[in-house]
Amino acid sequence: MAFRRALLCLLGMLIASSAIAVSDSGIYYQIGLMWPGAYCVQTTGGCCMPKSPIVPAADFYVSGFTVLNATTDAPETSCSSTPFNSDEILGISGLRQYWSNIKCPSNNGQKSWKSAWKTSGVCSGLDDKAYFQAAIALRSKINPLSRLVSKGIKPDFGLYSLEKIKKAIQAGTGVAPLIQCSKGPFDKFQLYQIFICVAEDAKTLIECPKPQKFTCSDEILFHPFKKWMLKQAASSVSFAEAFEMAGAAMGY
Ligand SMILES: *[C@@H]1O[C@H](CO)[C@@H](O)[C@H](O)[C@H]1NC(C)=O
Repeated sequence: MAFRRALLCLLGMLIASSAIAVSDSGIYYQIGLMWPGAYCVQTTGGCCMPKSPIVPAADFYVSGFTVLNATTDAPETSCSSTPFNSDEILGISGLRQYWSNIKCPSNNGQKSWKSAWKTSGVCSGLDDKAYFQAAIALRSKINPLSRLVSKGIKPDFGLYSLEKIKKAIQAGTGVAPLIQCSKGPFDKFQLYQIFICVAEDAKTLIECPKPQKFTCSDEILFHPFKKWMLKQAASSVSFAEAFEMAGAAMGY
């Protein structure tokens, strides 16, 4: 009996302390992962090879790492003016492969990282290196392309069930993703972005408390992403070969 009481007491303390931890920061995150194959065909100007010696991966890219208020579910933005130090983040492994900016004209990505930091990063309570590192680690943990490909869902211009896409990602991550579609070729809805919510520790995946609603059809197009889709700046040379290797490593 005493043992049971002690156990209950311990349990109560654990619950109380976790409740305190939540109200401490009062935030959670949402990570956005963008499929470049969709971006390149839906954008009038197409997409461009970044100005960087490092080739972007043939995979989903981080498109945002938003901080949300746990009480209101609204984005927390521009909470402080902690400056952005690009030297700190450029050393992060995978940053330029997986948080690539393929907007045209070709750019070195600095503007999009700085904007993510100034808008959301400063509300995270993390320093800039930890904030970008957390996003890159989450991307590889979610790893959408390999989870989809392993279930036979490939970027091959095929139409795939939206439910099956969600289930493939949920099976691997334990949480339901939100899927955003865009209009692709022949006016068909295509897989564009995947959003997943993350607890205040910037590591643990959680169900989104207030999921946004996106319009898709029951079956959506998974558009290919090929090297020729990224318009080259005149000077880069070995890009095609490097990209070929990245594609081969993907195994399809
Ligand atoms: C969340 O929003 C509430 C209501 O506006 C506010 O009182 C609270 O300070 C916000 N939390 C954070 C972490 O900013």
